[in-house]
Amino acid sequence: MCYHSRSMTAAGRIEELRAEALSAVASADTTGELESARVKYLGRSAELTEIKKSIRDLAPEDRKTVGAASNRATKEIEDALAGRLDRLSAAEREERLRSEALDVTLPGTPYPRGSLHPSLRIIDEVVDFFVGLGYRVAEGPEVETDYYNFTALNIPPGHPARTMQDTFFLDEGLVLRTHTSPVQIRTMLSQEPPVYVVCPGRTYRRDSDPTHTPMFNQIEGLAVDEGLSLSHLKGTLAAMARQVFGEGVKVRLRPSYFQFTEPSVELDVSCFNCGGADPNCKVCRGAGWLEMLGAGMVDPAVLEEVGYDSERYTGFAFGMGPDRMAMARYGIPDLRLFFEGDLRFLRQF
Ligand code: PHE
Repeated sequence: MCYHSRSMTAAGRIEELRAEALSAVASADTTGELESARVKYLGRSAELTEIKKSIRDLAPEDRKTVGAASNRATKEIEDALAGRLDRLSAAEREERLRSEALDVTLPGTPYPRGSLHPSLRIIDEVVDFFVGLGYRVAEGPEVETDYYNFTALNIPPGHPARTMQDTFFLDEGLVLRTHTSPVQIRTMLSQEPPVYVVCPGRTYRRDSDPTHTPMFNQIEGLAVDEGLSLSHLKGTLAAMARQVFGEGVKVRLRPSYFQFTEPSVELDVSCFNCGGADPNCKVCRGAGWLEMLGAGMVDPAVLEEVGYDSERYTGFAFGMGPDRMAMARYGIPDLRLFFEGDLRFLRQF
């Protein structure tokens, strides 16, 4: 009787716990609440667990029914927990995704695009052309010694050609280089012929007016090899001019004078704008030709100065002003605009 009533009590209590647990599971709104319900109804010190532990104290005939009932209840609660957990975690994931969602249709932060300085465009084109011919790019310092800037280039101390250059003199025999020609000397001193180099760089002269700025760019070129002649110079520069100013342009050489070349020439390019036909042309002002660079055959005295055999080797050199070339190409009247850093000017290129 006693055992019988105990088993009835246990079975009834299991049923109550089962119902309580299922409703707690059903009403859990978060995975946290669900976990609390699991601990409460199936945890180590849950009442149902206690009942299971006490089964062995029951009369043998009750063990079966109470055991079966508690197992069924446990299984049912476990299934309910699992089902509810799926539902809740899906909902929570959904909610998290919603709150973390990015609106990819919002406009981005605009990143302004720069453009190349007009001089740099010309420099790049000219250097690319010569690199394509197999020339190497060489550079030298902007603070130069008197020796490299003048003496080694056949302009000895006291020579009047020095004063024509409006040099910025620094202390201890240093100058701001007045041209890129000292890079010729540095290159020849550092290697044996054949030499084929192109040398872009900044140069300085005490000068300031619409067509002169105290700092300006130059591109030097130097070739030293066996058998080089003036026609190699002319052909090379004509090809360069066609590349930079257009297939149709013609070149002409005019006699000139530089201390470090003999003979010396200046190279003009037929006006790429009017082709020489327009007396009112804005680019050439009716001249039909544009002065483009100074050049010549390297003076044997310069070759000897760097230890080259001037009987065996000849060379040609040229120096051009990419800023001037850009002025002509883009129709810019004042060189000073190039170096003022005004974005309204620079954005046009
Ligand atoms: N260095 C000369 C100048 O600045 C240009 C030049 C270079 C001339 C190379 C001949 C050869 O005017």
